[in-house]
Amino acid sequence: ATMSSEAELIHVFKGIPFTTRSSPELLKSLDTFDAREDDILLVSYPKSGTHWLAGVITKLYNTQVTLTSPIEFGDISKLEELNNLSSQRIIPTHLDYNMLPSNFKNKKCKMIYITRNPKDTAVSMYHYYRDNPNLPTVDTWTAFFDLFLNGEVVCGSWFDHFLSWEEHENDKNILFLFYEDMKKDLPKAVNKISLFLGLNVSDNDIQDICKKSSFSEMKSDTEKENSDPSHTVCALTSNRKLIFRKGAVGDWKNHFTPKQNRRFEEIFNEKMKLSKM
Ligand code: A3P
Repeated sequence: ATMSSEAELIHVFKGIPFTTRSSPELLKSLDTFDAREDDILLVSYPKSGTHWLAGVITKLYNTQVTLTSPIEFGDISKLEELNNLSSQRIIPTHLDYNMLPSNFKNKKCKMIYITRNPKDTAVSMYHYYRDNPNLPTVDTWTAFFDLFLNGEVVCGSWFDHFLSWEEHENDKNILFLFYEDMKKDLPKAVNKISLFLGLNVSDNDIQDICKKSSFSEMKSDTEKENSDPSHTVCALTSNRKLIFRKGAVGDWKNHFTPKQNRRFEEIFNEKMKLSKM
């Protein structure tokens, strides 16, 4: 990456790299945000299955809810824009727990945290960096691998993000989901989500939602629609077509060298000492 493109695209707030599409003024004012008790937060580190989860949830509700763009995306007018929505809000975010507006915590809003094997997350993010003009250029996987492990990528360190949320795993208002579990048994995951949200959904509806939420269905839906930049659930992109790349578990094996794998595991074990994962 050249320094100039890096400086135009990225700024650092409270030690965490954000794209310039999240304005510093907005980030500074987040803590004044007025949460509502029925807000639902979709939380993730980038490339963990955010769009997949958002697809499932909007299908579970099917009416009367608004999937907003991420709370940290945009400029200072964002908070008012969200304030003006009269319907129930489903709000995506990549913020770590500490940076989340405290009103969401005080009001015990429901939050769903989706996470994924960080090796696959790293590979997915590498491709995203390469394809997405809103992110700095990276020349090689080797270079990106180091940036990822050092937390020198948008949204900072995967480990810090995960750990900040894992600390709240047992809070009653927080549901933890794994990308890999959704791949293994989507109906089970959808059932869990609907119970958590207190929705009454029939087995037939669940089957139908799962069919419509498959990788191939979601990818082809996206190719049919004109991409509307305000309709993103990820603060890093304005083009949904970049999201549906491979949708597989274990793609890291096609990228990691044995040496990189050893180094990753070393750092993983060190950082995740106190984690249950
Ligand atoms: P890959 O790059 O490994 O393909 P996010 O939505 O958080 O940006 O995550 C994007 C990742 O989720 C991409 O991973 C994408 O392909 C995958 N994904 C999106 N929809 C999916 C689906 N319906 N089933 C499985 N994976 C999906």
